[in-house]
Amino acid sequence: MSPTDELTQRHFFGDHDPQTLLERFGSPLYVYNEAIFRQRCREMRRLIRYEPFTANYSIKANSNLALLRIAREEGLHADAMSPGEIYALEQAGFKPEQIFFVPNNVSAPELGYALERQICVSLDSLDQLALAGRLSPGLDVAIRINPGLGAGHHAKVITAGKKTKFGINAEQLDEARAIARRHHLRITGVNQHIGSLFMEPPAYLRAARHFFELAAGFPDLHFVDLGGGFGIPYHKLDGEARLDLQELQEGLDLLVSDFVQRYGRPVTVKTEPGRYVVAESGVLLGTVHALKENDGVVYAGTDIGFNVLARPMLYDSWHDIVVYRDGQPLEADPDRLQAVTVVGNICESGDILAKNRPLPPLCPGDQLAVLDAGAYGYAMSSNYNNRLRPAEVLIRQDGTAALIRRRETTEDLLRTCLEI
Ligand code: LLP
Repeated sequence: MSPTDELTQRHFFGDHDPQTLLERFGSPLYVYNEAIFRQRCREMRRLIRYEPFTANYSIKANSNLALLRIAREEGLHADAMSPGEIYALEQAGFKPEQIFFVPNNVSAPELGYALERQICVSLDSLDQLALAGRLSPGLDVAIRINPGLGAGHHAKVITAGKKTKFGINAEQLDEARAIARRHHLRITGVNQHIGSLFMEPPAYLRAARHFFELAAGFPDLHFVDLGGGFGIPYHKLDGEARLDLQELQEGLDLLVSDFVQRYGRPVTVKTEPGRYVVAESGVLLGTVHALKENDGVVYAGTDIGFNVLARPMLYDSWHDIVVYRDGQPLEADPDRLQAVTVVGNICESGDILAKNRPLPPLCPGDQLAVLDAGAYGYAMSSNYNNRLRPAEVLIRQDGTAALIRRRETTEDLLRTCLEI
């Protein structure tokens, strides 16, 4: 068993169990494990042996301040998609040179927000490149290139190729160079992100090889950013294998050294992992409130609606579920499993967390632990139906639990409304 497996399988909840956590902090509840989070940060930080190498944590996956501070301590830099993400990163202590702004369709003031702070920006269309040129002639900039191939776990998260809004197409690169010349911009960085959640290194390596070929057409590069998308095993209870980081590392090291040799001087290599860093360190806890049967389907009604975890409804994503009763995990005895459709408390039929999922027979009061919920969980939660966003708790390395975001209150729901 590798050290990583040991980490994932050790007691996730430290000195606590799901029941005591829910009693103390309320249900539903996001719980993160610091040791696992740090371990994943280190794996990404050491992904490539070549130096200079930077792993930019993509904070759209999870922007809790306490986690951002830990990621910074672990030596990660960060990428930001919006001024709000830049703000959170600054509050977490990231310096401007540790932030890479990779926006899409930003306004002039939003771009200005990053430029004022001397944060490196990447422009992902010819219009946005020209906008940067008008705002800051003479600037060093990066461009996001759409390399023409995309990949991902769902059409909605494929961010390169023909059917996407992202990036400057390979055929437009001459025009991009011309716009840059006109505004005296120097293209010192290129980045790509082909999509989210690949489990096989060859897919990423193919895209990286192709990207290095495109990068070679830019003589002033300081960095090449290969993007994120590193997958995690969402079916781990069925024994799904992890992404082979060793294979990825060997492949990337070869590609990078080959590129640097041909390019004639060293450049910084960057990646942008989001999910890989934080998904597995997060578990979403919730409570079963009602069971019913309708037309042969057994429904388990819980407080985990799509306002709390949107991924299953948006992408039909799978999250493993472990059932706890009185704080103890229920044995998943194969002879006693019962297919159940786990739903939330939101006023829509699509509010389904898991369809026909074989689980131990459930009772009201049982606790559910939804695994691998640390990435794109809280980050995509909402107040739909005037539901409150849950609290977030961090299980420290000494086993204690620290509240790192309070649960919203009903007053919070009206905080931005104005009387007329
Ligand atoms: N860099 C850029 C430019 C991106 O657009 C993204 C994700 C990342 C990095 C990080 O990707 P990651 O390593 O986390 O796969 N909500 C979806 C995922 C959307 C990802 C959008 N872009 C989900 O829950 O699966």
